[in-house]
Amino acid sequence: MRRRTKVALIVLAIVIAIQLVPVNRSNPPVRGEMVAPPRVVEVLRQSCYDCHSNETRWPWYSYVAPVSWFLAYHVNEAREELNFSTWNRLTEKDRTEALHEIWEEVSEGEMPLRGYLILHPGARLSEDALGILQAWTDSKQLTLEFRIAEEEPGPGLTDMKFGRTDKHLYLHDRVWVSQSDVDSAVAVEQEGQWVVEILFTAEGGEKFEELTEQNIGKHCAMILDESLISAPEIMAPIRVGRAVLAGDFTEAEARRVADELSRR
Ligand code: HEC
Repeated sequence: MRRRTKVALIVLAIVIAIQLVPVNRSNPPVRGEMVAPPRVVEVLRQSCYDCHSNETRWPWYSYVAPVSWFLAYHVNEAREELNFSTWNRLTEKDRTEALHEIWEEVSEGEMPLRGYLILHPGARLSEDALGILQAWTDSKQLTLEFRIAEEEPGPGLTDMKFGRTDKHLYLHDRVWVSQSDVDSAVAVEQEGQWVVEILFTAEGGEKFEELTEQNIGKHCAMILDESLISAPEIMAPIRVGRAVLAGDFTEAEARRVADELSRR
């Protein structure tokens, strides 16, 4: 036999032999699956579940050593760090910590692992998906206030800058409607602009109606996280229990705001 043939045969024998080494490619049972808004679950399933759950989809090459060793090792490590299939067994404190870590990893582009993205381009996080994860992992509560604003300064009024412009408005102290009056919210595109449509609770709807009835001709200032985003003039009483937040939002921002306002 030629020397080269001999070497090839030996290599082949080794490749076959290593296939016999047992690899733990198991998917343990799911006990304590995470509960989250459907959009969040969808993103996590698409981008994280192959490594961070007990529902790994093992691809064909995960059956070929030595790739199989590497993948099984990675999945086990990933599950030890974070496992969405057992998430609900974490304490409240551990969950809060995990949420913080998740955002840290994805916002820095560390997760999903880069090597994985080469073979699973669909798992790459879009701007949208990042917005969804940001809203979910940010445990800080978003604040929303509806107050009456004047165009001229006056006693007892608070000066507030308008969004990203140089304009100022002067606000009364009374908060007529706040985030706790929101029942649900959705991001929608209106004439090329992303806005957040909010649906008030019954009580919130009454408060909004009262605000509009008593302040016709004035501005209804909408303040999101302490920043004045819009202040439409009140033309007539509004009795439909709905309002639109138009704040120069990008799509991702609108979705994040809608998600956070809907979360309670
Ligand atoms: C291809 C497998 C794979 C995918 C997909 C993946 N991860 Fe990971 N992840 C790992 C491994 C392996 C580790 C542990 C080693 C490390 O930190 O690099 C880890 C660690 C982590 C940690 C803990 C980091 C630390 O150091 O404490 C977090 C949080 C995390 N991943 C979040 C995510 C999220 C969120 C996604 C989806 C958007 C995701 N991962 C997708 C493999 C993966």
